[in-house]
Amino acid sequence: MTRKLIKDGTVLTASDTFVADVWIEGSKIVALTDPSQRAALGKADVELDAKGKYIIPGGIDAHTHMDLPFGGTTSSDDFDTGTVAAAHGGTTTIIDFAIQPRGESMRKGLDTWHAKAEGKAAIDYGFHMIATDLRATALDEMGAMVREGVTSFKLFMAYPGVFLLDDESIMRGMLRAGELGALICMHAEAGLAIDVLVQRALADGNRAPVWHALSRPEVAEATGTERAIALAEMAKVPVYIVHLSAQRALERVMEARDRGLPAYAETCPQYLFCSEDDLRREEFEGAKFVCTPPLRPKHHHEHLWRGLNNYDLQVVSTDHCPFCIKGQKELGRGDFSKIPNGMPGVETRLHLLWEAVREGKITKNRFVEITSTAPAKIFGLYGKKGTVAVGADADLVIWDPEREKVLSAETLHMRVDYSPFEGKKVIGTPAAVLSRGELVVQDDKWVASQKQGRGQFLRRGTFGL
Ligand code: URP
Ligand code: ZN
Ligand code: ZN
Repeated sequence: MTRKLIKDGTVLTASDTFVADVWIEGSKIVALTDPSQRAALGKADVELDAKGKYIIPGGIDAHTHMDLPFGGTTSSDDFDTGTVAAAHGGTTTIIDFAIQPRGESMRKGLDTWHAKAEGKAAIDYGFHMIATDLRATALDEMGAMVREGVTSFKLFMAYPGVFLLDDESIMRGMLRAGELGALICMHAEAGLAIDVLVQRALADGNRAPVWHALSRPEVAEATGTERAIALAEMAKVPVYIVHLSAQRALERVMEARDRGLPAYAETCPQYLFCSEDDLRREEFEGAKFVCTPPLRPKHHHEHLWRGLNNYDLQVVSTDHCPFCIKGQKELGRGDFSKIPNGMPGVETRLHLLWEAVREGKITKNRFVEITSTAPAKIFGLYGKKGTVAVGADADLVIWDPEREKVLSAETLHMRVDYSPFEGKKVIGTPAAVLSRGELVVQDDKWVASQKQGRGQFLRRGTFGL
């Protein structure tokens, strides 16, 4: 078994900061030792110098959409390109959303997603299941999903005719999740009302990308969030609100948590760093920023940062769902409702959040917590993933806090023809990335002998915050 040593780095976990040597045997961390004792501990086959750098647990992106058929097209990253891009950005685990095809079984959806990922994924991956139909057979199937490590289910209150579920279905799904110890992840918006606003905007001749935001107002997300939490309260189950974008939705989560309810939420970098102004960019450039829920006016940012610091928001995931401008976003030229919803982000999450560390918006330890430790705990991966500890997988990033990088579609690895952050300079980037003890990325280059197919499916445990 190969013995690796990462020496002299500063280990960052969700709770601690300390200088240590990290010893790895095979795929696991086997010791964290004081560098002064190194001589007594024998030799390593491979040594990596981390002096002046941080050693952090590999990022866990709990919300990605690789190879997703959506909005009349398919997200442009598959499990190959998307996971390679993730690794370059310091993310070593993704949890992607499999879909129960409408009117069909979850089994079929899971098989389809396994086929998409197997032989392609370069880093480890798990699946959530998007439930589109929760009749009795599907409720039975939820048990099989959980036994196979798919321990969370996304339910939608948006996209009528595609994903939207009525309250009866949601309640059934929640009660079943409660029996199984599974977690309900909710896309919380008033989807039926939104569709009327969308049709009215189009009828009034309002067709530019910004109308995506203007027809999905903050209150639509707030009321969806409130209803999701109310249903979860009735079902006596935890609920996790995905891609929370706005102050009033956050306030609904805060109120619930103040009442002692197990309500959790994630936000995404686009809601922290981009705004409705981006949707107003001219020459259809706003289409690059069309995602759902939509980007909000800038004043929402400070509320989301506060939510992250106050633990009302637990996770920053990406909702990585890229579509190229050419041939994809373009489908909605002249009709914002036809712009495929989603933005690229799996590769740039850590870079952007480290900027927040540098600006004093979050601490280094909170950075680790929201990008790795909390998603590991919430989604049943903790211990194996999500921390730097003896016995954990050696999914590690040697983070260089000094090295600069300019974000650009040209040099990023996501298969998409634009970056929402084109030209943005960031300071802090992975010097090296290890996945299960194997050095996969060094100095922005893929260095492992295998790429496609080296990632393993993760059978996740049940909700464990
Ligand atoms: O715009 C988005 N968020 N696209 C992906 C689908 C979803 O609702 O997460
Ligand atoms: Zn969603
Ligand atoms: Zn999503």
